Amino acid sequence: MGKNILLVGFMGVGKGALARDIARRDERLYALDTDDMIESVTNRKIKKIFATSGEEAFRALEQKTADWLAKNVTNAVISTGGGFYKVKNIKEIGTVVYLRADFNWILKRITGAANAKKKLKKRPLFQDIEKAEKLFYERYEAYEKVADIIVDVDKSDIESIVETILSSSLPKDPL
Ligand code: S3P
Repeated sequence: MGKNILLVGFMGVGKGALARDIARRDERLYALDTDDMIESVTNRKIKKIFATSGEEAFRALEQKTADWLAKNVTNAVISTGGGFYKVKNIKEIGTVVYLRADFNWILKRITGAANAKKKLKKRPLFQDIEKAEKLFYERYEAYEKVADIIVDVDKSDIESIVETILSSSLPKDPL
């Protein structure tokens, strides 16, 4: 049992939306998002951080965020950036839930959204679809390795996804 629920998985799989959904359904939980935390602490957009300081600097900010979360946060459902699974202390933060889906499902989810342009524009590692697909396959096994629970979000409805995550991540009693 973890002290938080941590949603990991590839860009565009729906980590943020699902975290907010879970928090709305379970009043014990608040939703946090590591990309939002990084943007607020630096007062810069992720895209800007990548462009001006580079990916390595962004990964260091993810590690800093992980350290803070592990030390200070409980009772949260935390959505993460697609590369957050690499932080060294991920298990100290909480139960790691991998939201798994195939690449075409993710691509459709992003490009089919009403604000597709915005969704693509804010993601520096999703500018070139072939490169993004390559990254997807490079990471596929790593996500599985780090996960306590794997949920196939492209094969289930939202109700059963939430139910699976809540029943396997948290004790039944109040935290
Ligand atoms: C990244 C995913 C992004 C964001 C950054 C890097 C990645 O978050 O953290 O652009 O390495 O996969 P989303 O997964 O929310 O798109």
